[in-house]
Amino acid sequence: MTHRINSFDEYKEQYEKSVTNPESFWAEVAETFSWYKKWDQVLEWDFRKPAVKWFKNAKLNITENCLDRHLETRPDQTAIIFEPNDPEAPVQKFTYRELHLAVCRAANALKANGIKKGDRVCFYMPMVPELAIGVLACARIGAVHSVVFAGFSAQALADRIKDASCKMVICSDFNNRGAKHIPVKNVVDDALKMDCDSIETVLVHRNTGDGIEWTEGRDKWWHEEVDPQSGDCPAEVMDAEDMLFILYTSGSTGKPKGVVHTCGGYMVYTTYSFKNVFQYREGDVYWCTADIGWITGHSYIVYGPLAAGATTVMFEGVPTYPHAGRFWEVVEKHKVNQFYTAPTAIRALMAFGDEPVKKYDLTSLRILGSVGEPINEEAWNWYHETVGNKGCPIVDTWWQTETGGIMISGLGGLSPMKPAHAGYPLPGVQLCLVDNEGVEIEGNDVEGLLCVKFPWPSILRTTYGDHERCRTTYFAMFEDKYFTGDGARRDENGMYRIIGRVDDVLNVSGHRMGTAEVENAINEHPKVVESAVVGYPHDIKGQGIYAYVITTEEVSDEDAFAKEVRDVVTREIGPIAKPDRIQVVSGLPKTRSGKIMRRILRKVASGDTSNLGDTSTLLNPEIVEEIKSGAKQ
Ligand code: WT7
Repeated sequence: MTHRINSFDEYKEQYEKSVTNPESFWAEVAETFSWYKKWDQVLEWDFRKPAVKWFKNAKLNITENCLDRHLETRPDQTAIIFEPNDPEAPVQKFTYRELHLAVCRAANALKANGIKKGDRVCFYMPMVPELAIGVLACARIGAVHSVVFAGFSAQALADRIKDASCKMVICSDFNNRGAKHIPVKNVVDDALKMDCDSIETVLVHRNTGDGIEWTEGRDKWWHEEVDPQSGDCPAEVMDAEDMLFILYTSGSTGKPKGVVHTCGGYMVYTTYSFKNVFQYREGDVYWCTADIGWITGHSYIVYGPLAAGATTVMFEGVPTYPHAGRFWEVVEKHKVNQFYTAPTAIRALMAFGDEPVKKYDLTSLRILGSVGEPINEEAWNWYHETVGNKGCPIVDTWWQTETGGIMISGLGGLSPMKPAHAGYPLPGVQLCLVDNEGVEIEGNDVEGLLCVKFPWPSILRTTYGDHERCRTTYFAMFEDKYFTGDGARRDENGMYRIIGRVDDVLNVSGHRMGTAEVENAINEHPKVVESAVVGYPHDIKGQGIYAYVITTEEVSDEDAFAKEVRDVVTREIGPIAKPDRIQVVSGLPKTRSGKIMRRILRKVASGDTSNLGDTSTLLNPEIVEEIKSGAKQ
C-alpha cells in the first residue's frame, strides 16, 4: 500500500520532508486518490482570517474513493462487518460491492425526498450499518451530514437541527444498547416540537420493529424509500473545499459549535493517518469501538478505513453486555488485528480482572489504540500486558474534533512507546508549545500550551454559521497559530505528553463537555439561582462532574434535590452530562470583578483542601470554609 511508513527512520525522513516542503509532500500523498480534476495549487492559507484551502480547485467525490475505486481491485472484500448488540443475533457483512450498491440506493432515496447538494441532513441513530450507509449517501450527492450522538437529549438534538437548518432527520425506531431499549424516534418527535421548522422529512430505519408514533406526510420508512431505488447513482462532483460534514462539539462557552470539515483535505489526511498509525496491511480486520456520533467514528470507522480499502468492524453494543468479556469475544470472533478504544473503557474492563480477557484467543491482535483522554500508566500497562499479551504496540492517539484526524501518535510498532505519552507528531503536523503570552518555548523537557503553527489537510475550516467564533476560539489567542486548548509536556526526547485542557472544558469518559454548558442546564432548575461546575479525578471516567449550586430556598432533602438536578441535565443535554456530585452552597468564591475562582472549587472537588492558595483577593473569603466543610466525596 502506498505511503505507508515502514520504520522509525523512515518516519523521521518523511516528517522532515513534510516540514521542509509541505506542498510537495501532501501532493504526493494526494496523487494516490481518485480526482475528477487535480488541484491548481496545493495549499493557500492565512490563519488570521482563518482561511485554509487545500487542493485548490480540485474536484472529487469522497465516496468515489471509499467505494467505486475499490470495485476494480477488491469488490468482494468485506468492507463493513456489523456486530450486533445481541451476540446471538446474526452478523451482517457488506462487501465493497454491496456497500456501494446500498449507498447508491440510499443516495437516490435522499434525492427523491428533495435533498440536494449543500442541504444539511441530521442523523440520530444507533450504531447500525444504515448510519454509515446514510452518511456516505449524503457525501455521494453532496449533502452535508450532521450526526448527533444518540445519547443526547431532545433539547440538544433540536438545538443542533436548528443551528444547521437541517432539512431531514434520519433516525431509528428504537436503539438496543446493552440491556436497554431506547425509544430513539420518540426523542426525535420531541425535538421536532421545539421549532425545528426546517425539517421536511423524518426517515425512520426499522431497527427493532417496536411501535412508534407516526406523523403522516413527514415520517417515512427507510426501507420503503430506499429499497425500490436504483443502485446507480453517479457521484456529485465536489470541490475539494466543499463542506463534507458538520459535527458539534463543546467549548468553553455555553453553546456547542458546529465544526466544519471539507472534502479533499479531510479525505487525504484521515486515510494517510489511518494507514500509518495502525500500520494497516491488506486483509487486516480493524475495529474502532467509538460511536459514529463522535469524530473518531467519522474519521476512523467510516472515511479513513474505507478510503484505505480496509475491513472495518462496526459494533452496536457496549463493552460489558452481556458480560465483561464482550470486546474480547468480538476480537476472537472476527480475528481483529487492530483494536482502537478509549481509556475509560479500558479502566472499566480492568476492574473485572484478567479472567474475562483470558477466556478468548486474542492472538490475532497486532496493534492496540487509545483515544479521547490521557491514558494513565496503570490502564496502559493492563492494556499492554493483559490484552496485548506484551506483544502489541500501543498507539496513544491525540487529536480533536477540530483536527479531523490523529495529530500525535506512535506509528504502530515503529515508534518508541512510553506510557501516558502520545509521542511524536504525524508527518505534516508542526506543533509548538507556547507560554501564556504566546512566546514559543524551545527545546526539550519543557511544558506549555499546545499549538499548531502550520495547516494540515484536515484542519477545521470554520464553525457553522459563525466564522468569527472559529477565529476567536482557535486562531486569535496566539498570532498565526491554531490553539488546541490543551496543555502539554515535551520530554527530553521530544515526545509529547498531553496534560489536559487548560480551558473550562471537561473530559468525562472521553466525552467533551463545557462547564458553562452543564451550568446552563443546571440553572434551568426552578430552585437554582447559580451554579459552578468543575471536573475532579474519577477512577473510571477520567474526570467526574462536580456541581456547586446556590438555591432560592433551603434544601431539606439533598438527595431528592440532586436527583432533580440530574434529571434537568439529562433533559437539557443528556445523561452523559449528569453531575456525579452536587453540593448546595450559600455562595461561590468570587473575585472583586465577579469572576468565580474555579481554582478553589477544583481543589475542594478533588478532596485536596490542604493548600487553597491565596484567597485574600476574594470578595467573600468566608465562603471557602463553608464549601470545604460541606464537600461531597
Ligand atoms: C480533546 C478532544 C478526537 C478523539 C476524541 C476526542 C483530549 C483526545 C487524547 C489523548 C490525551 C486526549 C484532549 C483534546 N484527548 N485524545 N490521546 N491523550 N488527551 O475528541 O471530543 O474533540 O476532544 O480530548 O483534551 O483536546 P474531542
